[in-house]
Amino acid sequence: MLHVNENYARIKPTYLFAEISSRVAEHQKSGNAERIIRLGIGDVTEPLAPAVTAAMHKAVDDEAGRENFHGYGPEQGYQFLRDKIAEIDFAARGVDIKPNEILVSDGAKCDCGNIQELFSNDVKVAVTDPVYPVYVDTNVMAGRHDITLLRCGKENGFVPSPSSCDADIVYLCFPNNPTGAVATKAQLQEWVDWANAGKRLIIFDAAYEAFIRTDSIPHSIFECSGARTCAIEMRSYSKTAGFTGVRCGYTVVPSELCAYAADGTSVSLKAMWTRRQTTKFNGASYITQRGAEAIYSPEGMEQTKSTIDFYLENARLVREALASLGYEAFGGVDSPYVWVDVKGPSWDFFDRLLKEANVVTTPGAGFGAAGEGFIRISAFNSRENVLEAIDRISRVL
Ligand code: MLT
Repeated sequence: MLHVNENYARIKPTYLFAEISSRVAEHQKSGNAERIIRLGIGDVTEPLAPAVTAAMHKAVDDEAGRENFHGYGPEQGYQFLRDKIAEIDFAARGVDIKPNEILVSDGAKCDCGNIQELFSNDVKVAVTDPVYPVYVDTNVMAGRHDITLLRCGKENGFVPSPSSCDADIVYLCFPNNPTGAVATKAQLQEWVDWANAGKRLIIFDAAYEAFIRTDSIPHSIFECSGARTCAIEMRSYSKTAGFTGVRCGYTVVPSELCAYAADGTSVSLKAMWTRRQTTKFNGASYITQRGAEAIYSPEGMEQTKSTIDFYLENARLVREALASLGYEAFGGVDSPYVWVDVKGPSWDFFDRLLKEANVVTTPGAGFGAAGEGFIRISAFNSRENVLEAIDRISRVL
């Protein structure tokens, strides 16, 4: 008989954003829906930077001729992109990451989901609550049971402390999805010291680092001293450069980072992740990686920064509008997400905004029990739609 992986029965039957889409579709079918404005899933709306599309067009031309044609590329990513990442995302900030410690992929979600394959099933995992569902679901699917939730609420500024955490692996995401909170260098340093003291690992999701505008906030876990021996970092071009539909990101695994075999022998995680990727992944496409390389050109950096500034202005408008309506709003300063205390059940508030304002948000409870009582509003939309959504929400509330 064909047996299924019963761990799938331990996760919710639908992914959060699929559940939201089905509620939106039902509302549309009801005949009462006006034009829907989507401030739910964090999907970008602004087009790719001209520097990126020009580079991708050129890459298409390369693929059209014999001279510069590329078939399979290196599974770890093309050298031209890994060199740029090391130089601009890290060296320019005083962080020493070598190109060969960077593995390019088709996005941070896959890497965040796949990285747990490197660890035994009895490792203890900790995640924040609320949390991006991928960290939890992928560990549950793999059969892990020991998953601790680190509560993040107003009382700790939505940033957990390691003081009573006894996990082997912690997932941290800053700027945070969903709360929009950022962690200071001192807060991250505490986690690094905790990890090094107990041979533990931090899986750091920095997908939203490009939204950081406050100078003192670290963009990378590797800005903390000692992080090279206890951290893996994921980055994404999805929100940085509008690549949600193009798909590209990368994972940094320092050369000295180790985990341990049952007999105590240390094993290089970079070697394991490379082995995993070379077996299961054939690399992001040449055209995509040429587009990603162009993000680091002077024009590419200026153009992508201006798009992020545009979304940050949307976030400011949303945050201030909600505050003026008497709702406590968090995040949205170094992040595209505004986290709003709705003073009642999240799903009820979500349904009310959907049915009465035709505005889609994300209910905080969908990110975990500690998200109950909040909604997340995404700043990814046109200015016109954001202003219209604010106007409709104001009328409803
Ligand atoms: C979100 O809305 O939380 C994100 O778009 C999800 C993702 O990046 O996968």
